[in-house]
This record gives sequence, C-alpha cells and structure tokens, in this order.
Amino acid sequence: MRLSAVVKLLVILEVAKLNFCEEIMFGSPEETYWSSLDMYLWTFNVEPDQSIFDDNFEISGDKSESVKGLYFKPNNNIKFLPVKLNEKFPNLVVYAANNCSLSSLKYEHFTNLSKLQILSFGTNQISSIEQDAFKDLTYLKFLFLNHNEIANIDDHTFDTVTNLRLLTLYNNQLSALSENIFINLSQLRNISISDNNIQSMNDNHFKNNRKLEWIWMHNNEFSILSSTMFDKMKNLKFVDLKENLCINDYYFAARFLEMKEKIKSSC
Ligand SMILES: *[C@@H]1O[C@H](CO)[C@@H](O)[C@H](O)[C@H]1NC(C)=O
Ligand SMILES: *[C@@H]1O[C@H](CO)[C@@H](O)[C@H](O)[C@H]1NC(C)=O
Ligand SMILES: *[C@@H]1O[C@H](CO)[C@@H](O)[C@H](O)[C@H]1NC(C)=O
Ligand SMILES: *[C@@H]1O[C@H](CO)[C@@H](O)[C@H](O)[C@H]1NC(C)=O
Repeated sequence: MRLSAVVKLLVILEVAKLNFCEEIMFGSPEETYWSSLDMYLWTFNVEPDQSIFDDNFEISGDKSESVKGLYFKPNNNIKFLPVKLNEKFPNLVVYAANNCSLSSLKYEHFTNLSKLQILSFGTNQISSIEQDAFKDLTYLKFLFLNHNEIANIDDHTFDTVTNLRLLTLYNNQLSALSENIFINLSQLRNISISDNNIQSMNDNHFKNNRKLEWIWMHNNEFSILSSTMFDKMKNLKFVDLKENLCINDYYFAARFLEMKEKIKSSC
C-alpha cells in the first residue's frame, strides 16, 4: 500500500472511532432496503466525504460477519474499489457504487465474495473489466453496468455468473457482441443492451437464454438481426427495438409475429 493510503487510513480510523464505536470503519452501518431483493440488509454506507485514490486500498477495521451490504454514496473521489473485501465483509450480499469514478473492475475486488446477489456500478467510467472479475460470484442475480464506457467485454466475463437474472449494459460503447458472451446465462430474465452501437446479432447470441422475459435493444445501430433469434423464449413479454437502422419499434407479445415479419423483411 502506498503512503497516501496509509495516511488516509489513519484519518478514517479517527472519524470512525468518533462516530461509530463498534465498527472501526468509515461510514455508518444501517438497515437499508434493497428493492431488487425486496429485503432490508444491514448495510455499510460510505459517505461522500471519503475518497479512494489508490488501487490496492484496503478498508481498515475488524472483520464483520453481520454487514451484508456495502454502499458507496455518489462520489467522484471513489476511483478504485477496495481489495481484500472478503476479509472484512465475508457475507456481502449487496455491493453498490453508482455514480462514482470507477474505471476498472478486477478479480481482486470481488475475490471469494460468493454470497453476492447484487452488484451495482451504474454511472461510472468503467472501461475495463478483467475477464475473471466475476469468477467467484456464482450466486450473483443482478448486475448493473449501465452508463459506463465499456467498449469491449471478453467472451468469458459472464461464464460463471450462471444465476444471473438481470444484466444491464445500456448506455455504454459496445459496437459488437461476441456470440458466446451470454452462453452460460440460462437463468437470465431481463437484459438491456440499449444505447450502444451494436450492429448485428444472430441466433447464437441468445441461444441459451431461453428464460428471457424483457429485452431492451433500443438505440443501437442494428442493421442485421435474425427473425428467429427470439423463437425459443417461451416467457418472452417484451422486446424494444426502437431507434435502430433496420427497425424502429417496440413489441409486446401480441405483436411478436409482426416483429418477426418486420425483421425478416428489413434486417
Ligand atoms: C451523480 O451525482 C452528482 C452529485 O455527486 C449529481 O449531481 C448527479 O445528478 C448524479 N447523477 C446521476 C445520474 O445520478
Ligand atoms: C478464497 O477461498 C478459498 C477457499 O475457501 C481459500 O482457499 C482462499 O484462500 C480464499 N482466497 C482469498 C484471497 O481469501
Ligand atoms: C460456462 O462456459 C464455459 C465456456 O465458455 C464452460 O467452459 C463452462 O463450463 C460453463 N459453465 C460454468 C458453470 O462455468
Ligand atoms: C424485469 O423487468 C420487468 C419490467 O421492468 C420487471 O417487472 C421485472 O421485475 C424484472 N425482472 C427482474 C428479474 O429483474
């Protein structure tokens, strides 16, 4: 750990000691409602006066088995996620840092956090995701990566998050999606890849995502789509294809036949 981080840690210890006797940490723990899970969880809220400018930053203080959530409030001074979090909060279920200044997600940010169900990192500047970043998160259900600067995602990034129900990738800079990127997400219900620059998708992209219910693909540059790409989804309710080159409409189940015809004739 570099010197600046050590200095910061001492300051943080002081603040924490002053405000929260039992938790030697920055921020404050409180019961917080998480709507995706419809659950209250004992959550550590990190106030916006804190900062992390160091890669390799470690949160100070004792291990807490009772903390189930970690929430960084909107804060431009959070540039990195802490490492070795599993040694501090081994039972994390929710981890959120929306509207901060994160630029990368790495394996060491999430090592062994196998109880995580929600990861929420919307509205950051994430451009780099290590291929194995989510490797240990086999129980993850909700992954929010919208409003970032993601232009490339490795084929294998989502290989092990096989319980994922919802994935948001809207408002990024994706221009192509590998055919295999969603291949292990057989439990996926909702996906949004809207507001990117994706040009084409074929029958392979959603081949194993037969449980999909809601799909948002609006405002891309689709000029090539397959008219059979949604055929095996028995519970599909909605597909948004507005603002694309070959199609500009959204469809509920009653109009899926019409959607198929439109894709066949125009895409
Ligand atoms: C992000 O946080 C800033 C304050 O830090 C706020 O002004 C802005 O509205 C927030 N943006 C979003 C998208 O939440
Ligand atoms: C992760 O968990 C495994 C198995 O419980 C353990 O052997 C390993 O040391 C842990 N790694 C870290 C970085 O805590
Ligand atoms: C996920 O996908 C890869 C191939 O991309 C495969 O090797 C692996 O066994 C799959 N399943 C799990 C649970 O990781
Ligand atoms: C999927 O999206 C619909 C419509 O917004 C919502 O009602 C449903 O709860 C979502 N499902 C999941 C698993 O997020």
